[in-house]
Amino acid sequence: MGKKLVITIDGPAGAGKSTVSKILAKKLDYIYLDTGALYRALAYKALNLNIPTDEVSSLADLCSNTKVVLENAGGRMKVYVDGEDVEEKIRTEEIGLAASKISAFAVVREKLLHLQREAGIQGGIVAEGRDMGSVVFPHADYKFYLDAQLEERIKRRHNELLEKGVSAEYQSIQQDMFIRDKQDKQREIAPLKAPDGAIIIDSDNLSVQEVVEKIISYLSVN
Ligand code: DC
Repeated sequence: MGKKLVITIDGPAGAGKSTVSKILAKKLDYIYLDTGALYRALAYKALNLNIPTDEVSSLADLCSNTKVVLENAGGRMKVYVDGEDVEEKIRTEEIGLAASKISAFAVVREKLLHLQREAGIQGGIVAEGRDMGSVVFPHADYKFYLDAQLEERIKRRHNELLEKGVSAEYQSIQQDMFIRDKQDKQREIAPLKAPDGAIIIDSDNLSVQEVVEKIISYLSVN
């Protein structure tokens, strides 16, 4: 493949976007951009400073007083907040939920938009999130929407956390994911949806490898 493509993968929490995007980016030798990490990074700082995650003026202050930087670390874009590498600290369910809350605010989305676009400016990128194909990269070469039933997503997230050694109650994951789905899909700005022209992949009965192969099959056919 000659041209360096922009490939977007959107979908709800727990659909397997990160795992699939990482493998795909590696196979293609592309950059992997996890945009949820940007929202999580700001939420991490908000929680640390006890900044309310539902108050626009506090979030506006947070945005103007925070330096968020993306750095290419061997093909993976790493997030730094005020110079701190937050990669390991932002993966909790609490931060995921707070990220979902603050991501409904225009001031937050605007702060992070140019960083995301800049990362994809030269192509050769697999970008995953909620509004990759709809807002951030509307002219992407390929747009995918990765979905799975809620039960399946809860199960996957539960196993993922257990594998990482993080204690996690199935029921609290269920509750968090339900709230997150609702918040992400119902917000007014850049809500989670399958973007126009997206290829929808239902991953309920597919392994990670099968999803990756399916995506690659579209890339090589067209
Ligand atoms: O993908 P994730 O679980 O790390 O994302 C955390 C939250 O960030 C998600 O619930 C909503 C928000 N988000 C967003 O609004 N837009 C994106 N492109 C990525 C994430």
